[in-house]
Amino acid sequence: MWALTPLTEEQREVQRVARDFARAEIAPFSDEWDREQHFETSLVTKLGELGFLGMLLPEEFDGLGLDMLTYLVALEEIATVDASVAVMMSVHNSLPTQMILRWGTDEQKRRFLPPMARGEWLGAFALSEPDAGSDAASLRTQATRDGNCWVLNGTKAWVSSGSHSGVILVMARTDQPTDRRGPRGISAFIVTPDLPGFHVGKKEDKMGLRASPTVSLVFDNMRVPAANLLGHEGSGFIYAMQSLDNGRLGIAAQAIGIAEAALRQASHYAAERRQFGKPIKEFQAIQFKLADMATRVGAARALMHAAATAKDRGEQVTQFSAMSKLFASETAMWVTQEAIQIFGGYGYVTDYPVERLFRDAKVTEIYEGTSEVQKIVIARQLYSQS
Ligand code: CAA
Repeated sequence: MWALTPLTEEQREVQRVARDFARAEIAPFSDEWDREQHFETSLVTKLGELGFLGMLLPEEFDGLGLDMLTYLVALEEIATVDASVAVMMSVHNSLPTQMILRWGTDEQKRRFLPPMARGEWLGAFALSEPDAGSDAASLRTQATRDGNCWVLNGTKAWVSSGSHSGVILVMARTDQPTDRRGPRGISAFIVTPDLPGFHVGKKEDKMGLRASPTVSLVFDNMRVPAANLLGHEGSGFIYAMQSLDNGRLGIAAQAIGIAEAALRQASHYAAERRQFGKPIKEFQAIQFKLADMATRVGAARALMHAAATAKDRGEQVTQFSAMSKLFASETAMWVTQEAIQIFGGYGYVTDYPVERLFRDAKVTEIYEGTSEVQKIVIARQLYSQS
C-alpha cells in the first residue's frame, strides 16, 4: 500500500496485526452483521486484548502508547474490512479516552482509563442533540448542582455505541437560564450507565454503518457525582472541539479504508468481468476511472498522514484535521460511487460488497462535523493564522 512517508518497522507491524485481525475475525461476518444490524460485543473484548482500545493511552493506563499515525494506519486497515467496527474504535480511541487523559484528574484517569484500554468499558461521546447538530453550542441538556451531585436532564442524539458503552462523555449546560454564557456555559461530565435516571432511547435504523448502534440517550434527573465533572466548569465545549480535532482524523482514516476497499473491489472485478470479448479493465473508460480513484485515495492518505505527523510533532491540527476529514470523506463517497458504476447492475445489489461500502461512505460526510462544518473550520483558521 502506497504511503507518503515510509512507515517504520513498528508501524508496519501494528498495520499487519490490524489487517490479520480484520480478515480473520471481522470479514467473514461483516455482511451478516450489516444485514441484521448486529453489534458484536465479543469484538470489544478481542480488540481490548489486542490493545486496540488503548492505542493512544500511555502504558501506565494499560494502553499501547502509540502515536497518532500508527493508530490511524491500524484504523484504516479495520475500516477497509468493516466501517462499523472502525467507528466504534475511532470514537473510543479519539474522544472519550483522550478527553479523560487530557483533562481528567489522577483519580479519574486511574478509575476509567485502564478498563477502557482493556475493552471492559467501551467509550462514547454525547454532544449532539435533536435540535443541536452543526450548531453544537446550542445544546440544551441542563446540569444543575445539588449538593455533591450534578442533576442532568435532557436528550442526546446520534450517540455511536451509546447502548453498549460503559463510559460516556456528556456535554451539558452548567450555566442557568437566567445567565446564558453560550459555548462557555457548557461543561463535560463522565457518565456511566448505572447512574439512576440514565436511559437508552431510540436506536436509529440507518442507511449504512448498520452494525454500529447509534442511539439517543435520555437523562431524567440523572444524578452525576460532582467528582465526575471533567476539568473546569464551563470548558466542556472547548474540550469537545479540541477532541474533535483528533476525532476527525479517525473519521478520515475510516473514510480512506472504505475508499481503498472500493478501489480494490472494482479493480479486481474489472479484471474478471468480460464484455465485448475482453476483460473490462482493457477499456480506457474503466482504466480512467480506476486511475482517478487510485489517485484520490492516495491523495487523501497523503493528507491524513501529513496531518497525523503534524499532530505527533505537537502542532495544533484544527485546520489540518478538518481538511483531512473533508477530503477523505468526499473521496470515499466519490470512489464508492465510481466502484458501483464499474460493477454496473451487480454493484446495485447486495451480492457484491460495493453497495455496502457506498452506504457506509455517506455518513463520513456528516458525522463529527458535516463537510460544510469542516469548510467553516478551515476558512476560520485562514483568518486566525493571518
Ligand atoms: N480548538 C480549541 N478551541 C476551539 C476549537 C478548537 N478546535 N473550536 C472552537 N474553539 C473555541 C473557540 O475559540 C471559542 O472559544 P472562546 O469562547 O474563547 O472564544 C469557542 O470554542 C466557541 O467556538 P466558536 O465561536 O467557533 O463556536 P461556534 O458556535 O461558532 O461553532 C463549529 C463552531 C465549528 C460550527 C462547531 O459548533 C462544530 O464543530 N460543529 C459541529 C459539531 C460536531 O462535529 N458534532 C459531531 C458530534 S460527534 C458525532 O458525530 C457522533 C459520533 O459519535 C461519531
